[in-house]
Amino acid sequence: MQRLIPVLNKDHVSLHLISVINTLLTAAKEISHRLHQGSLAGTLGSTLDENIQGETQKKLDIVSNQLIKNMLLETQLVRAVASEEEDDIVEGNPDAKYLVAYDPLDGSSNIDINGSVGTIFTILEVPDHPAEGKELFLQTGDEQVAAGYILYGPSTMLVMTTGSGVRMYTLDHTVGEFLLTVEDVSIVKDTQEFGINMANQRFWSKPMSQYIGDLIAGEEGPRGKRFNMRWNAAMVADVHRLLCRGGIFTYPADCRNPAKPCKLRLLYEAMPMSFLVEQAGGRSSTGYERIMSLQPTDIHQRVSVIMGSANEVSTCLQYHKDVP
Ligand code: AHG
Ligand code: MN
Ligand code: MN
Ligand code: MN
Repeated sequence: MQRLIPVLNKDHVSLHLISVINTLLTAAKEISHRLHQGSLAGTLGSTLDENIQGETQKKLDIVSNQLIKNMLLETQLVRAVASEEEDDIVEGNPDAKYLVAYDPLDGSSNIDINGSVGTIFTILEVPDHPAEGKELFLQTGDEQVAAGYILYGPSTMLVMTTGSGVRMYTLDHTVGEFLLTVEDVSIVKDTQEFGINMANQRFWSKPMSQYIGDLIAGEEGPRGKRFNMRWNAAMVADVHRLLCRGGIFTYPADCRNPAKPCKLRLLYEAMPMSFLVEQAGGRSSTGYERIMSLQPTDIHQRVSVIMGSANEVSTCLQYHKDVP
């Protein structure tokens, strides 16, 4: 089986970018180790702190964030990092060209029940135009040079794109290498599996309520076939499933909290996952706009997400076209 670096070399990925990716993966191996130690590592449970998102931080949210941030900045190859767990960006080498935004631990509510969690990352280049601070990161998804996630499941897997398709690698713990296990990921166009948090149903928009209602109406309903619901409460695990066997994953806007109608973050959740999904032949939309085309206005901006099997996403978007 091929190791990661020869694969990236074949894709003409620059040595500096390979070094940044490799540094991320070194941090991920440490996170994987601590997760697989579980309570023996003494890093489960919550802290008394809240992050800028208004979430209570898990100990591993903080440990994972520090590991990734410190290792990336030590390389001197990173101009700045942005993280779910950092209020503002953290400056690195002012002469470096890479920017890394990441969700150090996605699905962290699953940690204490030994569920799947992951790390999501996107890598951008410092823009040609003069920019400082947060502005450095305010680039559309089409500007990403690399994106992916590490899924800490029964096996630890890296799923990544550098713009020429999506590949999956599995961590061989004996040698500490990510080995290529799926060469060219392709999402089937149709599906009968959907992922959504049904507990929010009474807060959805009319188009989403109608779309999901028609899905669960089964053989007698407008879709004329049975759909199965799957929900991991961790975007990484829910997106991994649809990359492996098709599906539609959605965390739509809802009216629970008018100040925060959306849950998922654009820069370090929706954008990298949209890059992967589109590179694998799927679609990713807010319901009204292609996510990869959105111009971010803040590093912690939230967005409505509908992504997965192209034909099923198109069907869902049709409901949004018919009703504003
Ligand atoms: P994070 O753990 O990084 O804060 O992200 C959690 C996100 C995402 O992983 C998941 O799809 C969603 O929150 C689940 O939200 P609910 O718990 O509201 O369903
Ligand atoms: Mn969080
Ligand atoms: Mn997350
Ligand atoms: Mn997180």
